[in-house]
Amino acid sequence: MKTLLINGTTKQSNSASGYFARFLYLFLKGEKKMVKVRNKLDVPRIMNVIDEYDALVFVTPLYCDGVPSNVLYLMQALEKRCKETGKTFKVYVLCNSGFIEGRQSEALFKVYKNFCDRISSEWCGGLGIGGGVMLNVTKMVFFFATLVALGLFLYNGVKYGLWVSNDVTLFYLSIVVTALIFNAAAFAYMLSMCGSINHRRQHGIRFTRALVFAWLFALVADAGFVIVSMFRGGFWRGINRKL
Ligand SMILES: Cc1cc2nc3c(=O)[nH]c(=O)nc-3n(C[C@H](O)[C@H](O)[C@H](O)COP(=O)(O)O)c2cc1C
Repeated sequence: MKTLLINGTTKQSNSASGYFARFLYLFLKGEKKMVKVRNKLDVPRIMNVIDEYDALVFVTPLYCDGVPSNVLYLMQALEKRCKETGKTFKVYVLCNSGFIEGRQSEALFKVYKNFCDRISSEWCGGLGIGGGVMLNVTKMVFFFATLVALGLFLYNGVKYGLWVSNDVTLFYLSIVVTALIFNAAAFAYMLSMCGSINHRRQHGIRFTRALVFAWLFALVADAGFVIVSMFRGGFWRGINRKL
């Protein structure tokens, strides 16, 4: 039983797909390996080892309701290989989308189903997680808060001899609990997916999302986009661009 987790993000680091792939990796049994396919240069390296595996788990972002082009390169190479060798796989997909509704990934799952038909492999199902960016941010906030809390514990301890301050503990717990609530559904669905992968059984298609009110998500996302646009090109970005 050998599972290959394929991280389909185009990002070098701090990707939502990396976050979800690492979670799956923790709970998968048997031999497992995680690889990244950021561009077509990564494809030969993956194709060199892919035949050793019986299950493939694509963990990818959703791009324009579909498969990112970097992952498409791998799928094309795989289609060619499977036709030549007759090798088959069990294929699972975890797709995270920027929008809050996990159902945004529905069209992408159809692409994978067709892909599996094409390579005579078994389409075992997918999990669509909405609000992937937001969940990834909660992960970063968690690590940042841990560092700040440790620093404050240390500072209060050294300066005042108060190693466990109630204020700092409360601050830290409030961040941890909030992050856990946001991620709770995604964690539960990913655990269930790991169960299916571990038993090499059908998972079906399931959708979940960041556990946050949609109106709050929209407000936070809009605020985020305004801030990002201020630092990356400003409010008037593109206004003078010549075609
Ligand atoms: C080119 C591009 C297209 C995207 N298209 C969609 C989309 O159609 N629907 C959606 O919900 N999110 C879309 N997103 C957002 C990504 O799915 C989201 O940011 C995801 O969390 C990125 O995952 P990663 O960090 O693993 O790369 C798009 C992002 C990019 C860069």
